[in-house]
Amino acid sequence: MTDKPVWDQYGDYLQVDQILGAQRPRSHAAGQGVHDEMLFIQFHQIYELWFKQILFELDDVLARLSADVVNERDMQPILTYLGRAVEIFKQLEGMIDVLETMPPQSFVDFREHLGTASGFQSAQFRLIETRLGLQRKSRLCVFHGQFDENLNAQSQAAIQSAEKQPNLFDALDGWLSRTPFVNLGGYAFWSEYRTAVYGMFDQKIAAARAALSGEVLKNELEAIARGKEKFEAIFDEKQHASAQAEGRWRLSWKALQASLFITIYRDEPVLQAPYNLLKCIMDVDALLARWRFRHALMVQRMVGLGVGTGGSSGYEYLMATVQTHRIFTDLFALSTYLIPSRLLPALPEEVSKKMHYQYSAKA
Ligand code: HEM
Repeated sequence: MTDKPVWDQYGDYLQVDQILGAQRPRSHAAGQGVHDEMLFIQFHQIYELWFKQILFELDDVLARLSADVVNERDMQPILTYLGRAVEIFKQLEGMIDVLETMPPQSFVDFREHLGTASGFQSAQFRLIETRLGLQRKSRLCVFHGQFDENLNAQSQAAIQSAEKQPNLFDALDGWLSRTPFVNLGGYAFWSEYRTAVYGMFDQKIAAARAALSGEVLKNELEAIARGKEKFEAIFDEKQHASAQAEGRWRLSWKALQASLFITIYRDEPVLQAPYNLLKCIMDVDALLARWRFRHALMVQRMVGLGVGTGGSSGYEYLMATVQTHRIFTDLFALSTYLIPSRLLPALPEEVSKKMHYQYSAKA
């Protein structure tokens, strides 16, 4: 036990002096004293602290989810830590309201002091993207070179090392691919589902033929055929492989089947945690896109069409990342392949039984 007064212990434990001593507005040092530079600096520092926490959560999630066999007990911490990252991302997006209280004129007044400093050089942000699964080859080219070429050697090394480690996308894909129940005994979800889907299209064709004629019928039958083709593209392994090679799908064929299975039969007790995991990961992806969008709008408000201090086209580049730098769009695309519940194949009893926790209070 230390005999220091309680308030000192608070300061020591939280390193308050170091944190509060880290804001040094350059316009103040230069004698211009632009009021809003303090907000600008603290804002970025607060973000960096939250980025650190997100990385801390992601590291733990990845260690658990990338194991060869994921312990079922790990699902609870995985969902808790990812859920926490979701809540932090919400804060990051909401916080922009505070920065937008800064008049663009104030930003112009201290901008010269930033030099070429830009959020573009945030190593932690790049690590978050990489740990989630954004690939180097999928990034928009800004400087006709690599996105990390303006970072210091230490940050570059950290990003390159993260690129060699498991990322959330690959860990999820591997875990989904091993989902039991998709094929169990004589049960094969994919062929059951294909039969149900083709049954649905047969019904649609019969209904169109009964109700329509002439050109209208022709158009309707063509629309139905197009819908069917979409499904055929996922049912056929070869078509899926070429879609993967062309970058239209990133999820493996097995993971695609499992994620659809989980989405459809999500109420089954053993699928509830996997379904929540898919939902949580989609939340992370959507919130990151929302942050990118809000940040781009804020940048447009502050600098209009001007280029960024980091050397990009500014608003135009940032808006393009909203779409291009998405990572888990495959999970969103799954909804394309849902059919009405009344047409879904029921799970065979022997499969369904295995998916329930069978407890009876009776001796
Ligand atoms: C007045 C406020 C801000 C302005 C005008 C601004 C401007 C910009 C611009 C123009 C870029 C594109 C790269 C470049 O050419 O510089 C950028 C990127 C970035 N900014 Fe900001 N920013 C602001 C606030 C923030 C804050 C508070 C954060 C939080 C850390 C942040 C994080 C980032 C990140 C992570 C990128 C890289 C985005 C990517 O490449 O996908 N920015 N910013």
